[in-house]
Amino acid sequence: SPSLAELSAGKGMRFGTAINTGTGSTFNDNNYLNLVREECNVAVAENDLKWQAIRPSPDMFTFTGGDALVNFAQTENIGFRGHTLLWEDETRYPSWFDTYDFGADPAMEAERLLTEHISTVGARYQGQIDSWDVVNEAVNPGNGAYRSSPFSRNLGSMEAVLDIAFQTARDTLPNTQLVYNDFMSWGTGNAHRDGVLTLLEGMITRGAPIDALGVQSHIFAGTGNFGGIDEAAWRSFLNDVTSLGLDLVITEFDINDQNLPADIATRDGLIADYTTAYLGLMLEYSQLRDVLCWGLVHRYSWMQNFQPRSDGLQKRSTPFDDSYQPTPMYDAIAAAF
Ligand code: XIL
Repeated sequence: SPSLAELSAGKGMRFGTAINTGTGSTFNDNNYLNLVREECNVAVAENDLKWQAIRPSPDMFTFTGGDALVNFAQTENIGFRGHTLLWEDETRYPSWFDTYDFGADPAMEAERLLTEHISTVGARYQGQIDSWDVVNEAVNPGNGAYRSSPFSRNLGSMEAVLDIAFQTARDTLPNTQLVYNDFMSWGTGNAHRDGVLTLLEGMITRGAPIDALGVQSHIFAGTGNFGGIDEAAWRSFLNDVTSLGLDLVITEFDINDQNLPADIATRDGLIADYTTAYLGLMLEYSQLRDVLCWGLVHRYSWMQNFQPRSDGLQKRSTPFDDSYQPTPMYDAIAAAF
């Protein structure tokens, strides 16, 4: 049967997954890499390109992990997405930020550090990374306001961070898709989505160079038809985003089965149902470019640590089980294409 790479390509899209270096990671598991080779025409760095991985100190870059992943994609002749040039959740910056001296002109130093980072990392992978998450999670999920970050505090506003970051990325990488990436808080009211919309509208109005919204798609299963989200509200959000002229990318798809029944057949069936409903809706949008899962095999999935099940059972958030066999979620993804 055709692979997910072939099926997605048939729709002019790409299917892919996050990959990761380090001890016990997906990159050291050749069975996992074989799944990537067979099923994917794009991959994304799960952690290796984040500030905490790449900037051990203010004057140092560590490209080892990122280079390994990007070289793998080149060798396999598949696309690669960069994640992420900025993660505006302040707990995600290296600890040296806590005591960093921004000097007599903090705005100027913040702009220097920001543009240096984006132009250096961007240029390193010029022609090898075709899509970058330029900014990740700049909106407070609770109230939709901008988050506070070391950069927004020193530059005076999150708008300044967004504009400088995207303009630097465009100047460095004129042919790369530039993405704002967020999780949009499924099922907890409209504040988070309204905040993301305000962010995007502001960027378009100010002429900041952005190409797409990255829809993380960590789908919380167990409440309501779309994991608790109001389907009409979700469609209205997507309509507003695409009306701005932006493309959509599913950047981090998985199913959070924290509250689904323990029985595996029942659970896998429900996970497949959520997948069918969600991807069916998303694929109605011709602006949808790529679908990437945040991992392919259960035991490597971040979902094992994020909101674990109270019964201690392994979560089944990804399309392959620990024996590298496709689950019903896999079939649902294939059918959606
Ligand atoms: C997660 C990784 O999967 C974990 O390994 C890491 O410990 C923390 O980050 N939204 C994002 C991703 O944008 O960067 C996060 O990835 C998952 C949620």
